[in-house]
Amino acid sequence: MYTANASMQRAFFNADGEWLIVPQQGRLRLVTELGLLDIEPQEIAVVPRGMKFSVHLLDDDARGYVCENHGCALRLPDLGPIGSNGLANPRDFMAPVAWFEERDEPMELVQKFLGELWATQLDHSPFDVVGWHGNNVPYKYDLRRFNTLGTVSFDHPDPSIFTVLTSPSAIHGQANVDFVIFPPRWMVAENTFRPPWFHRNLMNEFMGLIEGAYDAKAEGFMPGGVSLHNCMSAHGPDNVTAEKATAAELKPHKIENTMAFMFETGKVLRPSRHALDCPQLQTDYDACWNGMAKTFHKELP
Ligand SMILES: [Fe+2]
Repeated sequence: MYTANASMQRAFFNADGEWLIVPQQGRLRLVTELGLLDIEPQEIAVVPRGMKFSVHLLDDDARGYVCENHGCALRLPDLGPIGSNGLANPRDFMAPVAWFEERDEPMELVQKFLGELWATQLDHSPFDVVGWHGNNVPYKYDLRRFNTLGTVSFDHPDPSIFTVLTSPSAIHGQANVDFVIFPPRWMVAENTFRPPWFHRNLMNEFMGLIEGAYDAKAEGFMPGGVSLHNCMSAHGPDNVTAEKATAAELKPHKIENTMAFMFETGKVLRPSRHALDCPQLQTDYDACWNGMAKTFHKELP
């Protein structure tokens, strides 16, 4: 997670992996070797491994999330039987046009390599590429352009149906990391508990909220916050949400004013000491499931 109230004076690149940047508050200008990308909350950007860049704030401050992907480069998921289009469409991804500056003054360049930061002093700005072609480029995408698919009959599809970008692993069906969103959408399922189901699974789920409220957590999950359910940790909707959803009339209902996302990865996410010592850490998080009522009775059909 990042927070900033000043623009970068230095240039940076990451030899360990690519960055998926998910702003939650404040607009950013990414000055890259291949040009400029302006992004705002509800948009994302991906900066390829090794691409030099610098981040300028377009507002007083900025806050958001970064997924550092050490695996295969993020790509659109295979659509399978969905067919030729749907989910994130290729036409909505934007790459910068060439832009350069001639600045012959000292500039510090920092690189991340094997988890360490290394710095050197340049005598000029590295943003001096006057033209380029190719496809290993930084790009942006507006999450509001996502073509959300879901059931039109019954049951709750696997959230993988909400995948925007995926980094495949060597194991088919188990992504290195998926970037998944939960945007505004219609809920129409019949005879179905509509919030996300209760489950434990192999994947490790880092969730964030860009705007509004998330449909599985009525309270306690604020924009800018994060939840982490690592491999085989049981989780699901909180009590308030489950009770409401159980009693709800199952008519078409639109979930609005929301944009939640998930970095879902096959790798266990180990929180840093800093994260575990944060006063914001919710040590009673599991209390949201306290006293959950039994809703199945042997004697009833
Ligand atoms: Fe989950």
